[in-house]
Parts: sequence; C-alpha cells; structure tokens
Amino acid sequence: CEVHRGALLHFLDDPGNDPDPRQGSMAFIEDGLLITHQGKILATGPASEWLPRLPSGTAVTRWQDGLIVPGFIDTHVHMPQLGVMASYGTQLLDWLETYTFPHEARFSDVDWARTEASRFTDLLLRHGTTSALVFCTSHPQSVDSLFEAAEERSMGLTAGKVMMDRYAPDDLMDTARGSYNDSLALLEKWHRRGRQRYAITPRFAATSTPEQLALAGRLAQEHPDVMVQTHWAENTGEIDWIRELFPERSSYLDVYDHYGLLGDHTVLAHGIHINHGDRKRLAETGSRIAFCPTSNTFLGSGLFDFRNAREAGVTVGLASDVGGGTSLSMLTTMAEAYKVCRLRGQTMTPWQAFYLATLGNARVLHQDDQIGNFKPGKHADFVVLDQNASPLLEMKSAYTTTLMEALFNLMILGDDRAVAATIVAGNIRYQRSASSAPDTSS
Ligand code: GUN
Ligand code: FE
Repeated sequence: CEVHRGALLHFLDDPGNDPDPRQGSMAFIEDGLLITHQGKILATGPASEWLPRLPSGTAVTRWQDGLIVPGFIDTHVHMPQLGVMASYGTQLLDWLETYTFPHEARFSDVDWARTEASRFTDLLLRHGTTSALVFCTSHPQSVDSLFEAAEERSMGLTAGKVMMDRYAPDDLMDTARGSYNDSLALLEKWHRRGRQRYAITPRFAATSTPEQLALAGRLAQEHPDVMVQTHWAENTGEIDWIRELFPERSSYLDVYDHYGLLGDHTVLAHGIHINHGDRKRLAETGSRIAFCPTSNTFLGSGLFDFRNAREAGVTVGLASDVGGGTSLSMLTTMAEAYKVCRLRGQTMTPWQAFYLATLGNARVLHQDDQIGNFKPGKHADFVVLDQNASPLLEMKSAYTTTLMEALFNLMILGDDRAVAATIVAGNIRYQRSASSAPDTSS
C-alpha cells in the first residue's frame, strides 16, 4: 500500500447552511494518514493511531502543511474551448459565432484534437480537478482524443460529442440521424470502459432541429444510465430565440421535457433566467443544474439564484464552463460562486463550496459510489492544497485560526498555485515544483 500524511478533510454528506458541520457531514483529521492500495482508498485515520499499525518499512509520503481533500470535480466544461477563454466584449450568441464556433472547427484536424485533449487533461490536473463532465466538439475524433488522454492519466471523465444540426457553420454541423449514429457508436465504445462514461450532448435547443432533439431523447431513453448534458436559460437573447424557434412549447424547459431530455441523469448548464414552475419541474424530474459563476459574470449572462434552486429541491453542481468561464480552478469557481451569492443577498459557506466541488458534484454525476470523498473502496483521487501557496495566502494564513477561515482563504485567494499535487488512482499525476516535494520516509 501507499501512505500519504497530512491534514485530511472530506464530506460525508451535504452540509447545507450548517455553520459548523464538524460533527456531522464533514470529517477532518489534523494529522492524518490516507492509505491507498491498487488505486483505491483503503483507509483514513489519525497518524498517531495508524502509523504504529503499518507494516515496517512502509513508505510514508508526508505533505508538510498540506491539506488533502478529494479531487475536484467540474460538472460543466468544454475541452475545445481553452483557446476561447478571455475573448473580449461579447455576450453568449455573438461569443459563440465570433469566437467559439471558428475555434471548435479546428478540431476536424485529429492531430489538433489530440494535442488539445492532452493539454486540457494536464491543465485539469494542474488545477486539482480529477473528474469532469465535458463537452467535446461535433467531431467524433474529439471524443476519442479526450477519452484516450483521460485513460493515459487514469482519470475518469464523462464526455460526449456535441450534437448540432442547425444555426452553426457548415463544417461544425452534423445531421439528426448522423449525430444519433455517431453518439451511439461512441457510447458503445467508451461508456464504462474502465473509468470513462459517455454523455449524450445536444449543444442547446437552438442548434438542434426537433428531429435531432427527438433522437437525442430516444438515445437517452435507450440508455438510462448515461448522462445527458446541454445548456439552458443562460442569456435573455438566447431565451427569446428559443421562444421563436419553438412557439408550440410553453417554455425553454418544456422543449427539453417534450423531447425526453429531462431526468436525474440530466445536467443543464446555467439555468439563470428561470421561474418557480421551472424549479418545480427540475425537482420532480431530478434534473440538475450546473452553476457556472465565472462564465455567467464574464459573459454578462446573469446571477444564478442558488438559494432558490436549493430550496425548491433542485440538485445543483458547481462548474467552470471554460471557455465561457475564466478559470479551470474550482477554487476560483468557488470564490465567484460566493460573490454571485453575495450579490443576491445570499451566502455560501466554505463548507458548502468545498462540498459542492467534491461529493456534491460526484452526486450530480451519479458517481458518488466511486469518487467525491475518502470512503474506503473509492478511487484514490485527491489534491494536496498548500495554504501558503502565494505571498498573500501566506500573509493571511498567519492571521487564521479556524479551519473555516483556512478553507475560505483557499477559495477566495487560491488558484492553481495552491495545488501542490494531484493524485489520480493513487499516482501523483501533477506536482507543482521540486520545492513542494514531500518527504518520503520509511
Ligand atoms: N450555449 C450553447 N453553446 C454554449 C457554449 O459553448 N458555452 C456556453 N457558455 N453556452 C453555450
Ligand atoms: Fe457551456
């Protein structure tokens, strides 16, 4: 077995608004051991208790001052949009046409797709993200490239081919029937191959004909354990356009409902401009929302109402939405989620934020039997955070006395610099620098 030593923090359940979940939904061991075997978690416990029980000669990787948390999970991110990040001056529909579609067209080149898929997975790991629900492009090879890159790194990703058969450039469009066939072939090739999972991925109702939405819904009905991902109610211009395109439907949500695309395996990105009836229908069907705060502020889309969604019983995940989003860091994403809540007169505790980025997002993806916390038997995916990662964090840590403050510092001031190392299936896949190297002693 392999042994990592540091402060351990993970969630066993949703802390809600609990200001101090220490005795319930959250577990913290100040000086703990995380013991792994063959890529899975074997046990966690206090070092004082477990060190004497280890077979003599067992190597212990000691992360001095490190806070070890479960690997972050991103529930909405676009692999082909790294190069679209930080595109100036547009809202959603102009942003898609001006920047995003031309960039995604480059993925017809399989060498480019492979290069970008490798870059993307390496960057996820650098930011402490070990699993994600990912949009590829409409080119099937973009999906192959991403899953191949994930397999090489033993990561578990959920991803799919974008289905898009109207209102997009010719070189990005598929057809209703072709997109069904291609999605099915990719699903049969990749779904549950090792850690990989397929996701049925109609881009959004505007870029799919009714025929394509119907076939996407049919594929989802035929494969009830496969996730469905799309975009919904992000931008007011988008919503007006959907109303024109589907005058016979009572709402944007009703479009997806009508075509059989709602359910507890569905993740709708954004869901900003919605009403109580929408929330009720989401709760009834178990459909989830991915809250994408850096994207929603960057594109001027709006402020997601986190409290209202939760109170209506809607499951909400947290997501970067890169390239509309401005950071792959789930720490930075937590900071922006907190700020969006503040702008709505709400708050988000650091417990809630760290829960969402780990166990909460694992639940959104129905993978909480595999990832999300340190329960024995789960994949040994975890991140070592450094509370002194930058001069500001170091300064602030000196004033910090409680665990809650320490977590809040990390989410508000932290980013990829705060990730000292990322471990996937028990192997160190990213390490910040030689100076953060752990002591390994026997
Ligand atoms: N709506 C349709 N496509 C996209 C996309 O690529 N990004 C975002 N943020 N919204 C979308
Ligand atoms: Fe998106």
